[in-house]
Amino acid sequence: MIKVGVITLSDKGSRGEREDKSGQVIKEMMAQIGGELAYYRVIADDLELIKEQLLYCCDDLKLNLVLTTGGTGFSPRDNTPDATLAVIDKEAPGIAEAMRLESLRITPKAMLSRAVAGIRKSTLIINLPGSPKGVRECLAVVLPALPHGLEILSGAGGECGQD
Ligand code: MTE
Repeated sequence: MIKVGVITLSDKGSRGEREDKSGQVIKEMMAQIGGELAYYRVIADDLELIKEQLLYCCDDLKLNLVLTTGGTGFSPRDNTPDATLAVIDKEAPGIAEAMRLESLRITPKAMLSRAVAGIRKSTLIINLPGSPKGVRECLAVVLPALPHGLEILSGAGGECGQD
């Protein structure tokens, strides 16, 4: 079972002024890889708050996977990639590259997401864009590779020589 944390970054959502449809999409799609929702929050786009939440998910809850949605763009309040880079030990650039590559086939606006992915201890953190559409499109790209990556990350081994 893959323990998943979902953190939605939205100033409006954190004040209860916007329904979190993107978080809902993540919750539905993670079932495809046997993900179990272990933590869920909608929080404001504050750099320090995001870092705090990521650290809690990685160090205290020891989740396998943390999926964030929102706050990856160019607005002054878009702080998610910056918070993620501040807490990870290693970047996993292929994940963000794959999401942008496939997303660019759908919309040129995909290049406006600064999303990153990386590993802190035994947790993989992946930033997703904020719209439900963006979440759906990006998760569809990365989900097929995640069980294998998370298996290796957990130290359970995993045979890389097979398709
Ligand atoms: N990626 C995909 N696959 N589909 C999308 O619709 N929207 C883009 C981009 N990535 C989009 C996408 C847009 S319009 C923006 S502004 C950036 O993600 C950043 O979004 P965010 O600030 O909500 O994270």
